[in-house]
Order: sequence, then structure tokens, then C-alpha cells
Amino acid sequence: MAIVSPSILSADFCHLGPQCQMVLDAGAEMLHYDVMDGHFVPNISFGVPVLQSLHKGLPHAFYDAHLMISHPLQYAAAFAKAGATLINFHLECEDDIAETLAAIRAAGCKTGLTIKPGTPVQALAPWLDQLDLVLVMSVEPGFGGQKFMPSALDKLRWLKEEKQKNGYTYLIEVDGGVDAVTGPLCVEAGAEVLVAGSAVFAAADPVAAVQALKAL
Ligand code: DX5
Ligand code: ZN
Repeated sequence: MAIVSPSILSADFCHLGPQCQMVLDAGAEMLHYDVMDGHFVPNISFGVPVLQSLHKGLPHAFYDAHLMISHPLQYAAAFAKAGATLINFHLECEDDIAETLAAIRAAGCKTGLTIKPGTPVQALAPWLDQLDLVLVMSVEPGFGGQKFMPSALDKLRWLKEEKQKNGYTYLIEVDGGVDAVTGPLCVEAGAEVLVAGSAVFAAADPVAAVQALKAL
């Protein structure tokens, strides 16, 4: 069984609350909240106030915040206050990694570190013993609906091996182009959390799409 974290970037923002409720009712364990600053990635999505509203309406959901921003340290406390359960930020960001992890923890959130497709997974090694989650991007961050990059699979395998070898406790998450075809490959390679945007919200039957990914 995989944990499913639907990316609400692909939801209908006019009906965001009900769309989130629908995927939670379908069995999604998390809501993946993609924050983009127009600087770290060439796109802008949503920020603190939208999360605050969602958290107010759906206080029991697990908010898996993915900060695709240059300065996560500056915003960690604000996202925590708005309701983030876990804060993912990028190893390629411009802030100090240790300081940012400490700030996330101090704000009462779980920690996640993320790598872009061009970053070797071994670069995560110094941080693995203190992470709640590791996120492997299987597309270039910035947009939903892109094609899955199979190079992510070896990274997932490496993370699974390191986890087993060293007794680490992080969850292994994959994000980008995950669907009914690529999802099984990810799970086979070691992914425990599947982020899926278009494969869920653009599906004819989003409830069935969540259930099918969960069953992997
Ligand atoms: C991409 C985002 C993803 C995106 C996934 O920058 O981090 O979470 O929403 O969308 P799909 O599943 O459509 O590739
Ligand atoms: Zn994401």
C-alpha cells in the first residue's frame, strides 16, 4: 500500500475545499501543497494565505508543503503557522540547510528535503539521519502535467538501500508524472509516498485514481 499525496496544484481552485475533501475521503493520507516563488522555479502558485484557509476548513488533513522557493528559511515559520504538517524544501535552495531544518523543527513541523532531477541523490547523505521525508523530483519543478523521468528510479533505490542499511526513518516520496503506469515502477524502486497532481485531479474519476495509487 502506498501513501498518496495528491498535488492540489492540479485542482480546480474555484472549488479547492471540496476537491481536497474529495481526495481525503477517497483515502489520500496527505495533501501536497506546491509553493512556487517565480525565482527558484519559473512559475508562481500560491503561498501562506491559501494554506491558512485550507487548514481552517480542513484542520485534520496532513499538509505536505513543497517549497519550491529560493529562501525557505525566511518562510518556514509562516507556513508552519498556517498549518503545514511537513515542510519540504530544496537542497538547491539559497539558504543554509542545517539552519532551515532547525527552523522547521522549531516551528513544530516535520522535515523533508527535496532534490531536482539534475542533483545526485548522494548529495542528501549528510542529512538523511535527521529527515522525516526525502522527496525525489521526477520532473523539473515548476509545472504539473510533465512526463516522468525514469532517472528518478535509481535515486529511489539508493534511498531505500540507505534506509535499510542504516536504520533511517525517513519516508521516500516521489513527485512528478506519477500515474497508474509510472506509480508501480516508483513503488517497486522504493517510493512510499506518491505525489500525483494531474493523474488525480484531471482524471475522469479522481476518487478511483486515488484508490488505484493507494493500492500499489
Ligand atoms: C511540480 C510539482 C508537482 C506537480 C506534480 O513542480 O512539484 O507536485 O504538481 O504534478 P503532476 O503529478 O501532474 O506531474
Ligand atoms: Zn510538488
